[in-house]
Order: sequence, then structure tokens, then C-alpha cells
Amino acid sequence: MSNQQFPACRMRRMRQHDFTRDLMAEHRLNVKDLIYPMFVVEGNNRTESIASMPGIERLSIDLLVKEATELATLGIPAIAIFPVTPMALKSDCASEAFNPEGLAQKAVRAVKAAVPELAIITDVALDPFTSHGQDGLINDAGYVMNDETCEVLVKQALSHADAGADIVAPSDMMDGRIGLIRQALEDAGHVNTCIMAYSAKYASSYYGPFRDAVGSAGNIKGGNKKNYQMDPANSNEALREIELDLNEGADMVMVKPGMPYLDIVRRCKDTFQVPTFAYQVSGEYAMHKAAFANGWLKEEDVIMESLLAFKRAGADGILTYFAKQAAQMLASK
Ligand code: PBG
Repeated sequence: MSNQQFPACRMRRMRQHDFTRDLMAEHRLNVKDLIYPMFVVEGNNRTESIASMPGIERLSIDLLVKEATELATLGIPAIAIFPVTPMALKSDCASEAFNPEGLAQKAVRAVKAAVPELAIITDVALDPFTSHGQDGLINDAGYVMNDETCEVLVKQALSHADAGADIVAPSDMMDGRIGLIRQALEDAGHVNTCIMAYSAKYASSYYGPFRDAVGSAGNIKGGNKKNYQMDPANSNEALREIELDLNEGADMVMVKPGMPYLDIVRRCKDTFQVPTFAYQVSGEYAMHKAAFANGWLKEEDVIMESLLAFKRAGADGILTYFAKQAAQMLASK
């Protein structure tokens, strides 16, 4: 017998009490990490449920404002709004995207007027506004035209900033759009409007429920977005996308989807040390909710574990449909 004690190190000693575990915790979820995506529809006092996203509703602006007030009281710092455009307003040129009286623009003004401390992030992309459901303008062959699309994205981003959006978030994956939008914002005097770039956005099948929510699922011409969103096989390519967006003036970058892409979040944070966000998307929400509904997973514990994983991977904030529920849980702890 050597006189060395067995075992040399007891890792379990620090796991025995709440206080040892609390003191040792490397990461903690805070309500200030949470961004709540919300769907807005025309009308008054209108709510619509979304079959594939139980617990999430499309809200008319008056109800959106009410909900925004509650979210701010919970301490949530920001919401991301997504308009549901009636078919009649969709077109090949997506001009509704930059209508100053469009749904997104009106929603921004209403929420900012009522709850100025709550940050509003707007989605810059054309898919809610094109009759064909692609994120940009298409040519006769159905190909999304990069530079022509960028011109419309610039107008859309300006209309959001004019309405009072704090952060514009291009989610379209066109090349060069961050630089063009930054320049246009500067020229228009919106020097403090932030850009959160969906830099590493994958051509993912986890977006299905979102497309149901905004009503673009049925009409995606060509069936997918693979010639602009990234191939799930790639990781180095994500770093190139992120670097380009940073060089063009992005203030924050995003990886999307979330849980299946936490390796990209980690590489992003390690490589660039910039404000990094991740989007736990609609499909991730849907599969969790399905398991909760069946009693297969324990709802509250799994939500917190899934969100903490983003922090551990290096995300500074998380866009998640669980934001409100998580905020309520954090408040009651
Ligand atoms: C639109 C957009 C999408 C999402 C956010 N912005 C869908 C898409 O690219 O088809 C998906 C969000 C989610 O699934 O929760 N450009």
C-alpha cells in the first residue's frame, strides 16, 4: 500500500451540496440573455394558435403591445418580431417589405411607444412578402438574385430603422448585404441602429413550424433555400460568413439553428470574441413541446438545460420561443 490516499482526487466532494454546486457553476442562465420571437398579424384583439408551435400565438398589434409590457416587466431585454403578411399583399417584387405602414413597421412604432425600454429586433428578409416564399427576388429560372435583392433589403432595413427598430437582423443570407445596410443606415443618420447578422444560417429542416407560423410553408418555390443558406455539412464556411459580416459592420452575429449547431457557436466565440447569439428555432421548440405533451421529458428542467447549453457553448444571448416561460421560471426561483 502506498501512503497516497485513494482516490487521489474526489470530484464528488464539490457536488455534494447545493452551495458547493452553486459556487462552482461556470455558467448561469439569466433573463437578460433571452430574446423572444413573436408573430404579428393584422387586426384587433386577434390571436391565432399555431398547430406546430403549441403555446405560441400570432397576435394583433394591440395584443402584441400588451404582451410586450408583460415581457419587459419580466426583465426580458428584447423581442424579435415577424409579420404575417396576407397573400394579397405578397408580390414578386416584395414591395410590402419596405412599406412604412406595413405590419412590422406599425408594430415597431406601437411597441416602442408603449414600452420604450424593450428592444425590438426586426427581421430583414423578403420571404414574408414574396409570392414565391423565397427570401429574395427571383429570376425566370427561379434563382434568387443577390444584388437586386440587396437593394430591397436596404430599403426594408431603413424602413425598420425609421419606425424605431433598435436592431435590424438580416436573415436572408445574401452576399454583401451587411455592408450595404450599414452604409445606408449611416447615410440616413441611423448611426446607432445595431445590426444583428444571421451570419451562419443553415438551410435547415428545423424551420418548418416557423414557415407554418408566417404562412410561407406552402409556397416556397423550388422547395428549399439551399443556394443561399448554408450546408449543414460545413463549419469552416460559417467562420468565413461570420468574418465577412463583421468586416462589413455587423455588431452582433448569430448562428441558426441552435442546439444542432452549438459547435459553430463555440468556434465563433473562440475565433472572434464578438457578441454571439444563437437561435433555438421553431423546430427545436416543436420537438421539445411534443415530448413534454407526451410526458416523455420533464418540461421545466429540460427547458432550462437546453438554454444553459447555449451559454456553455459561448452564446451571449438566445432567441428562443421558451423565453417567456424561462423568464417566469427564473423569476420564481
Ligand atoms: C426568414 C426566417 C426564417 C426563420 C427566421 N427568419 C425561416 C427561413 O429562413 O425559412 C426561422 C425561425 C424559426 O424556425 O424559428 N428569413
